[in-house]
Amino acid sequence: MSYKAKFRVWRGESGEGKLEDFTVEVNEGEVVLDIIHRLQATQAPDLAVRWNCKAGKCGSCSVEINGKPRLSCMTRMSTFSEDEVITVTPMRTFPVIKDLVTDVSFNYEKARQIPSFTPPKDVKPGEYRMQQIDVERSQEFRKCIECFMCNNVCHVIRDHDENKQSFAGPRFLMRIAELDMHPYDVADRKDMAQEDHGLGYCNITKCCTEVCPEHIKITDNALIPMKERVVDRKYDPLVWLGNKIFKR
Ligand code: SF4
Ligand code: F3S
Ligand code: FES
Repeated sequence: MSYKAKFRVWRGESGEGKLEDFTVEVNEGEVVLDIIHRLQATQAPDLAVRWNCKAGKCGSCSVEINGKPRLSCMTRMSTFSEDEVITVTPMRTFPVIKDLVTDVSFNYEKARQIPSFTPPKDVKPGEYRMQQIDVERSQEFRKCIECFMCNNVCHVIRDHDENKQSFAGPRFLMRIAELDMHPYDVADRKDMAQEDHGLGYCNITKCCTEVCPEHIKITDNALIPMKERVVDRKYDPLVWLGNKIFKR
């Protein structure tokens, strides 16, 4: 069964723009990205939208639908009532390039700042042995499709551009936690998380976890354990004594 839906889509460039109204056909089984494509095909040929897989796996099609970050390819039109106005806007935390396409290079810069897996020098390839529980812990984090909706929704940077310098966002604090939990990683991830990537800014509001399309428990399984690891280091009496003696 087809019907006509009311769409409001943000149109503009470099942050200057406005919402435009459209009435557009919807068919059974369609998702929001189908409707955006129909708008391109019938009414707005220059409407810019980023997408790739249309299967919830590439993380390209992140937008805000009625104010909530969502993958447009995974948001079924049946989620909404037929008379509801559906507002589609670009992710708010990142600068707009055009229409629904944002410049997410902030995320790539943060990714580059985190040193990669650093194994001990004396362990040769083929000699790595891990407990299943350690494998499972990092496997959860590796389900990330880099849609950046968690970084988009985190209040630390969503309304505070000035924090972007010192806060990597949940996606990359989770990456640091993943490496810190890896039994063969020898880099100092705890100081890195706290001092360079702003772990202390996170006040565990869990908005990041709520929007993750891969249902990764970012806050409970990565951020809170990482905070505990940092605190353990800080208040460990032996570490404290060591710091007193050797940092004189
Ligand atoms: Fe997206 Fe989840 Fe990865 Fe964040 S952790 S970038 S919300 S998939
Ligand atoms: Fe932000 Fe997630 Fe922490 S939304 S405040 S990083 S729990
Ligand atoms: Fe790939 Fe939506 S188009 S996740």
